[in-house]
Parts: sequence; C-alpha cells; structure tokens
Amino acid sequence: MKKVVLFTTAISIMLLAFSCRKAAQKGTDDLISENVAFVAGQYARHIAAIEDSGRLLNPKTFINGKIRYIKPQEWTSGFFPGSLWYLYELTGDSVWKRRAIRFTEALDTIQYLTNHHDVGFMIGSSYGNGLRLSGNEPYKAVIVQAAKSLSTRFRPGAGIIQSWNTDRGWQSERGWECPVIIDNMMNLELLFEATKLSGDSSFYRIAVTHADNTIRNQFRSDYSTWHVIDYNPNDGSVRNKNTAQGYAHESCWSRGQAWAIYGFTVCFRETGNKKYLEQAEKAFEFVANHPNLPADGVPYWDYNAPKIPEELRDASAAAIMASALYELSTYSNRDYYKGWADKMVASLSSPAYRAKPGENGYFILMHAVGSIPHNNEIDVPLNYADYYFLEALKRKHDLK
Ligand code: GLY
Repeated sequence: MKKVVLFTTAISIMLLAFSCRKAAQKGTDDLISENVAFVAGQYARHIAAIEDSGRLLNPKTFINGKIRYIKPQEWTSGFFPGSLWYLYELTGDSVWKRRAIRFTEALDTIQYLTNHHDVGFMIGSSYGNGLRLSGNEPYKAVIVQAAKSLSTRFRPGAGIIQSWNTDRGWQSERGWECPVIIDNMMNLELLFEATKLSGDSSFYRIAVTHADNTIRNQFRSDYSTWHVIDYNPNDGSVRNKNTAQGYAHESCWSRGQAWAIYGFTVCFRETGNKKYLEQAEKAFEFVANHPNLPADGVPYWDYNAPKIPEELRDASAAAIMASALYELSTYSNRDYYKGWADKMVASLSSPAYRAKPGENGYFILMHAVGSIPHNNEIDVPLNYADYYFLEALKRKHDLK
C-alpha cells in the first residue's frame, strides 16, 4: 500500500513538473509569436511608406512626428536590413527575405568605407545575417573587403583600431589623437568572420589585440567602462580617459557598458579564451548589482546620471544586453543570465516600452536615447534598439 502511495505521488509530481514546463514553454512561445506578429505589422508599414516614396529609404528613428531616413554611410544603416533578416528568420516568410536582400545590397559600397570604425556594425547586421541565412556566395567577398577596410584603422604602435577620425566635426574639438570608444568591441565580430571566410589570420590577430588592450585600458576596477580612451597611436600610452555620450568622464554610459558585455561575449565565442568570458561576466555584474538599475532591468541612459529617478531610460541598452545575455547563458550560468535576459525582454515587450500598432513611426520600441550630451535623438525609437530586440527574441526562441 505504502509503495502504491509513493508511486502515485512520484507520478503526480512528475506530471505537475511536466505541465509546469509545458505552461512555461507556452508562455515563451506566446511572447515570441505575439511580438513577431506585432513587428511584422510595424515593418510592413515601414515598407509601404518606403514604397510610396519611390526610393529605397533606410529608416533610423522618428522625431517630431517624422520618420528620419539615413544614408548608407551612417553607422546605423545596417540595422534596418538586419531586422528584415531577423523577420525572415522568425517568420519563415520569404517575402521578408526578398526585402532583406534588397535593403542589404543597397549597402554595397560600405565595404570600402575607411573613415570610421562602424563598418563592422553596418556589414555584420546586413551582409553578415544575409550570408548566414541565404548562403549567398558574393556576400563573402563583401565581408572580407569590409574587414580589410576596418583593418586600415588598426594602429600597430598602440595595438588598437582607431574609432573616430579627429580632423573634422565635434571630434576635432576634443584634443584627441587616436580615440577608441568601447562601442568598437562590436566591430570585432566582422574581423573574426573574415578570418574564417578568407583564412587570413591577420584579421583575427587585430581583433584579439584590440580586445586585450580594451581590457587593459578601458575598464575601471569595478568593471564599468570609460566611453573614450584617447591613445598615443605610436606607443600606445593613454592620453585621456573621457566620455562623449555619457554624463561625465568618470560616469558609466549605459549603452557603452552594453556594448562591452556583448563584445566580450562574442570574443569568447570566437576564441574560446576564458578571459573574455570573465570580462563579459564582470561587466554585467557591474550592471546587475548597480543600485541605479531599475527593477524592470531597463537602465537609465547613464548609471550615474545626476537626477535618477527622473532621468530617461535607454531601451536600446536593455535590448543589446538582453541579446548578449541569451548568448552568455549558453556559455555560463544558464538560468542566471537567461533569467536577466527574460526580464529585460518582458519589460521591453510591455506597453511601457513597446509601441502600439501603427504608432512610433512604425518602430518597435520607444524610449531610447542617441546622445544626450549632443542633444541628439532624445527619448525616441532607434533602429538598433529594434534590431537587438529582434535578435534577443530570436536567441530566446533558439534557447527553447
Ligand atoms: N556606436 C554609437 C552609439 O552607440 O551611439
């Protein structure tokens, strides 16, 4: 009799666990499919507006009731094509693939761009996803050429890739010689990819040299990041530790910290070197333990912004982190990192951050900031917030 009771109890517990897992699974499926249906509706409206214009416009943001479109040379030009690739991947609908190809191939000349470091963002999100999802052979040469262009910015004396030129614009007014921004970690994926495609290991070596010097010079002892390190390009000595888009030189700009978490996660994926994994983990611990991180996991634009809690949030920083943390969860402490990413995705999917259908200039997320010190793109949608949100949904889907 006792045995029968025990057996029945064990079976009941197993059935309960199974149905809880099923319910959780259904919750995940529902969240992803509801988001994907919403995004498909918004981006179909983008496409309709672009078709009405008779031109191949590239949407970046929505300010004062107007969608702002950008030239291929702007650093965010790869994200709209990249989002179309993710829509294709998440829906399986070939109409999105055709659109993704059209918008990707409009960036054909970017492979030759050498006047800033962002070619990694631009080509990775467009051609990189395109190659992964279509296997389109000619895309390989574009990626390798883009890596060659990015490599022209490597300064061997300093062991870093120079992010910005200093001969014009506001960057020429700061007294910098060779500025490197933490965002630059995001361009290394292009170099790793180019080594795999071409067999030329010089791209890989540039990437790890840059990553190592970033560990050495761009992190404080609490693993927060300086936004800009100004190097002497000849001997690698550090001239200045500054900010450009954060609140202060000694504050931590939220999106920069997100770029660091994402970038070092990629470096671990591509090299297997544990020091990069640890750097990503510690950079995230700074965020996870920060007293100014709001309960919904969506950071203020700077962790040290002076008027918190009255400061603006940056949804883009949360979207970038969520995507990075899903990947990180596949290398380490799965439940912990996935739990954080799930929390951020749930917040971003809520009406507090996700637009209503047909609103927000057809972008997905509201409440991102471009650069507060430059009074540029304040509390608006941004195409890269959308892109990393979609990437996070895709990674969440893969983790099921
Ligand atoms: N990479 C520029 C930015 O994050 O605003």
